[in-house]
Amino acid sequence: MKKPVLIITLAVLPLVVQADEPFHAESFHRQKCTGCHDTSVYTRSNRRVNSLPRLESQVRMCDANLGIKLFDDDLHALVDYLDKNYYKFDK
Ligand code: HEC
Repeated sequence: MKKPVLIITLAVLPLVVQADEPFHAESFHRQKCTGCHDTSVYTRSNRRVNSLPRLESQVRMCDANLGIKLFDDDLHALVDYLDKNYYKFDK
């Protein structure tokens, strides 16, 4: 008769693990940031963002549009991800 309890415990475990997961900029970006525009806006010739501070404020604006309100650490990780992969500003 102990089996159902064990099954429930195993079913809940992945949820707990997920809540503790560190922020992954790449998967967050893939899931949340490609709904309104794709990555081509980051590399188009007339892109508007031309410095790291502007990139940060743009990401903040898009984050606010999404209504997610990322923590600062996560937002910086996301800015870093975009910089490394697309913008490549010198630091
Ligand atoms: C609610 C719609 C929406 C979502 C969701 C969204 N964006 Fe945007 N984003 C925009 C619009 C609109 C622009 C301006 C596009 C333009 O100028 O043509 C933009 C522009 C940008 C730019 C500037 C591109 C340039 O010209 O250099 C960056 C960077 C950016 N978004 C990042 C993000 C990130 C990171 C996320 C996920 C947190 C995100 N966006 C999610 C609407 C959105």
